[in-house]
Formats: sequence, C-alpha cells, structure tokens
Amino acid sequence: MNSQFNGTPTTATGLPFVGFGTYLIANEDAPGAVATAIEAGYRHIDTAAGYHNEEGVGEGIRLGLSASGLDRAELFVTTKLWPGNPAWGDAPKGYDETISAFEVSLAALGLDYVDLYLIHAPSGGSERVNEWRALLDMKAAGKARAIGVSNYTEAHIEEIRAAGLPLPEYNQIELHPWSQKPELRAFMAANGIAPIAYSSLVPLSTWRTEPGQDSSKTAEMQAASADADSPFKAMAAKYGVTEAQVLLRWGVQKGFGVLPKSLKPERMRQNIDLFSFEIDAADMALIEGMDRDDGVAWATGDPRFMG
Ligand SMILES: NC(=O)c1ccc[n+]([C@@H]2O[C@H](COP(=O)([O-])OP(=O)(O)OC[C@H]3O[C@@H](n4cnc5c(N)ncnc54)[C@H](OP(=O)(O)O)[C@@H]3O)[C@@H](O)[C@H]2O)c1
Repeated sequence: MNSQFNGTPTTATGLPFVGFGTYLIANEDAPGAVATAIEAGYRHIDTAAGYHNEEGVGEGIRLGLSASGLDRAELFVTTKLWPGNPAWGDAPKGYDETISAFEVSLAALGLDYVDLYLIHAPSGGSERVNEWRALLDMKAAGKARAIGVSNYTEAHIEEIRAAGLPLPEYNQIELHPWSQKPELRAFMAANGIAPIAYSSLVPLSTWRTEPGQDSSKTAEMQAASADADSPFKAMAAKYGVTEAQVLLRWGVQKGFGVLPKSLKPERMRQNIDLFSFEIDAADMALIEGMDRDDGVAWATGDPRFMG
C-alpha cells in the first residue's frame, strides 16, 4: 500500500502493481482508453515515444485525472526513450539527442515530470552508456523521478557498472509463465533492480489477435493455449476468475509490476481486479515449471543489441 496512490496496492518500490499498457493503442484512441483506465482505478500509465501515442496518452491523463478528481501526484507515468537501432538503419541517440528526446516526450505528454523514464531497448550500440548518462542527469534535475531500462540483459547492466555509473532502478522485461527469466531476475534482485513485467497475457488465445499485432513467435507460443486442458483454464475455474486474472495475479504474487493493455472497458476492470484471490502454493509451483523460452517480443540475447 502507498498513500500517494489512495490505497492502491504497490510493489516493494512503491510502483502501483497494475499499470495500463498502451502499446498498439492509436493516438486517436488513447485519450478515451487512458481516461477510462484511470476512472477504472489504474494509477500507472505506461507509454513510450516508440508507441507514437504520447499526445493522446497525455490528453487521456488530463481527462482521467479531472473526471476522477485526482492530482497529478496521484498518478505514476512511465515513458521511454527510443534509443535508435543501427540494425534497422536508425542511428543511435547520443547524450544530447537523448535529452532532446526526453523534452519532446514531456511536451507531447503535457507534463513537467515523469515518474519513470526508461531506455526502451539496448539497441543504442556505442551510445548506450551515453544514453544512460543523460537519464542520470534528468533524474538529478527532477524531471524523471526514477530511471531505468527495458529489455536489458545482465551484460548490458554490467556495461553500466563498468562505466562507474549508478545502476538502473527498474528493468521492464517480458515476463509470464512461459518466459520467467530466472537468472536475469536473480541478477537484478542481487543488484536492487526491480522488474516490471510486460506482455503478461501472451499465453491467452486472445493475445494480439488483430492483423499485424502478433510477433513471429506468437503462433508457436500460443499453440498450447488452445488446449481445453490448459492449466490456466483449470486455475481460472478453481479461483472463480478469468485466465487473464490468473496470469496477472501470478506476476503480482512474484512481486512484479504488471502492465495489461486492453481497449475493452470490461477487460480493463477485470485486469485490475487481482486482489480478492490468491494462487495457492501448489499452483505457483506448477507455473514455475512452465518456463520454456526467451519470450515473443524482444529476444533479449539478440547479438545485435551488444553492438
Ligand atoms: N518495453 C517493451 O519493450 C514492451 C514490449 C511490449 C509491451 N510493453 C508494455 O506492456 C504492455 C502490455 O503488453 P502487451 O500490450 O504486449 O500485451 P498484454 O497486455 O499482455 O495483452 C494485450 C492483448 O490481450 C488482450 N487482452 C487484454 N485483456 C484481456 C482479458 N482480460 N481477456 C482476454 N484478452 C485480453 C488484448 O486485446 P483487447 O485490447 O482487444 O482487449 C490484447 O490483444 C504494453 O501495452 C506496453 O505498455 C513494453
């Protein structure tokens, strides 16, 4: 619990456990979706320059705060630097470009600070450490209350340590029962880096079914979810909740912040309603045994990211 967020359950680092994900929400849909999410009780909104919806998200924040009678301080807002990616012909951002990109994001959101600023991926090549230096300076200036990274491996984090710089506070990574990353999480825990889980709902047959929204590995990963004997279906029936709630509750019980995205108000309400049941120890152990892959989004061991 944290009084800043009106009794909303928070992680050990004070992050509201359930954030609203906005990837694949179009800029024109973002004001309505984000305002609805805030009114449904979400106190963390996750966006990124790379989602091309920061203006709409900012508008949704203003609408949602005003409709709910909340102050800006009662909401946790995360956005992310697009660091460039030489593998895609997109030049890496250096220190100055990172500061400029941050200012562009703040202006698009219509905010004077964000609660968390992340480097979206370790694709900045030789500029990666300079990007981190810029984030440290934005934290020192109070414009980013916390800073972190996303999709970073142990090697990327060690690179920051080797440069003699403070380590990130958060690493936002793909985490769900099929991609649990135990070694990376143990390394992060040993170094005080909190995990934020994305794509928690990958095991659902309804995950990103719109054309063009899937990833190259979606079909392979989801083959198991069509199975009527899916352990998540059985757990959902046992606890009287949906499979989505089981997957999100697993993340919460592991201590992760989670970021479900939905454009459907009924699902938004369901995805934040995670605190009236508990997955028992036997089922947690069963899920522990389901880990099988690096995930469907970014392949964190991708050698392109070490350039
Ligand atoms: N840092 C990164 O690199 C990174 C990468 C990926 C994601 N993220 C962040 O994490 C957020 C969440 O990840 P995600 O967008 O990949 O996927 P997600 O939240 O795990 O799943 C979203 C998908 O599941 C469906 N869905 C949502 N709630 C449901 C429910 N209760 N029952 C059935 N289906 C449901 C949604 O469809 P409808 O919208 O139709 O409900 C959508 O297709 C993103 O929005 C973004 O903020 C970060």
